[in-house]
Amino acid sequence: MEICPKQRFFYGRKKEIIDLKKQINFSKKSCIAITGIGGIGKSLLVAKVIEEILLDKSDAYEYIVWNTVTRYSSIDEVVSELISIFDLEAEEETLLGKISLLSKHFHLHRCLLVLDGFEKVAQVESFKRRLEYEDFFVGITKGRHKSCILVTSQVPLKDIAYVTQSLPLESLRLEGLDSNAAMQMLRDKGLFGDGCIQLIENYRGNPSELDTVAERINRIFGGNVQKFFDYETTVIGPRLKVMLNMQFGQAGLLSDLQKEIMIFLAEELSKDSTPIPFFKLISGLKERLGLKVSVSEVITAMEALDERSLIETSRKSSKQEVCYSLEPVVKKYILVDALGLVYDKTSASQTSNTVQERM
Ligand SMILES: Nc1ncnc2c1ncn2[C@@H]1O[C@H](COP(=O)(O)OP(=O)(O)O)[C@@H](O)[C@H]1O
Ligand SMILES: [Mg+2]
Repeated sequence: MEICPKQRFFYGRKKEIIDLKKQINFSKKSCIAITGIGGIGKSLLVAKVIEEILLDKSDAYEYIVWNTVTRYSSIDEVVSELISIFDLEAEEETLLGKISLLSKHFHLHRCLLVLDGFEKVAQVESFKRRLEYEDFFVGITKGRHKSCILVTSQVPLKDIAYVTQSLPLESLRLEGLDSNAAMQMLRDKGLFGDGCIQLIENYRGNPSELDTVAERINRIFGGNVQKFFDYETTVIGPRLKVMLNMQFGQAGLLSDLQKEIMIFLAEELSKDSTPIPFFKLISGLKERLGLKVSVSEVITAMEALDERSLIETSRKSSKQEVCYSLEPVVKKYILVDALGLVYDKTSASQTSNTVQERM
């Protein structure tokens, strides 16, 4: 298997492992998408599940292929690479021809294919590309076969591929580690103090974020979490940063409206951290962008942001209006905007220094 990630200490995820194994072994759908924010543990979870499947039954699959999708690869490149990994003859084939060769291979042999980091090919604005992705997913899942394709992605597949027909696709959205697992992780890293619970809450149990902040607390405060809190600072880990740079920087991933919504939420939440109700969001956006805001467009944009784990949605009871918030690290990323990807010229207003100073 190509560079399948390994982790010496693996925490939690019992339920996710059971669910994913069940989906792989028993689902009639041959493609499973594992989505979630950068660094939440998608790749590691998939690697762990494969390890367990092989422990249960070492010959469960004839082929297990781990393919890390690289930045800017086109679907043609991904498919050609798979053709060569599976050693198939396809010199002169067109894209559709190659996809059908792959499909044949999935019917003849039990394969487990991982496409890791599929968000890297996302070019939401290119309609032609999105149609090609549809061809790809339709092709590789056609007919009932015993092979399984696992796709990890920060962006839901429907935002990458144009999907006109219902695909045999399952999806699993990964959230942070549960508090017991996260606590165990922090303790093993040598952190102490009552603040650990708050730390887990602030970083939403995101293991790679907790890893980064724990390293810093150890280095600067000797593992004392309370001392770290005294400085009221938020640390952004490298993986989340890469994800946010991609979301804000790569053309066509976030629409102008989606960016404006994120900026509005960040600025409002920096004044008052109470989640923002829908009516306030709408009136605030109308004020920022003039009256050219359509409520249904805002709702669609909020749904897409939620699916990418970029915003948080809460509702106290089913009768109440929904409220929106941001994870503290995401809020900080937006307000600091270190690379200038957030507040570009399309923004209705620039952040004021006072907002930045508050961070
Ligand atoms: N269950 C876990 N136990 C321990 N560490 C984890 C776990 N999940 C993720 N991590 C840590 O977070 C990092 C990012 O995980 P990864 O699976 O690469 O995230 P993603 O693929 O979602 O971006 C890993 O390198 C590891 O250090
Ligand atoms: Mg990954």
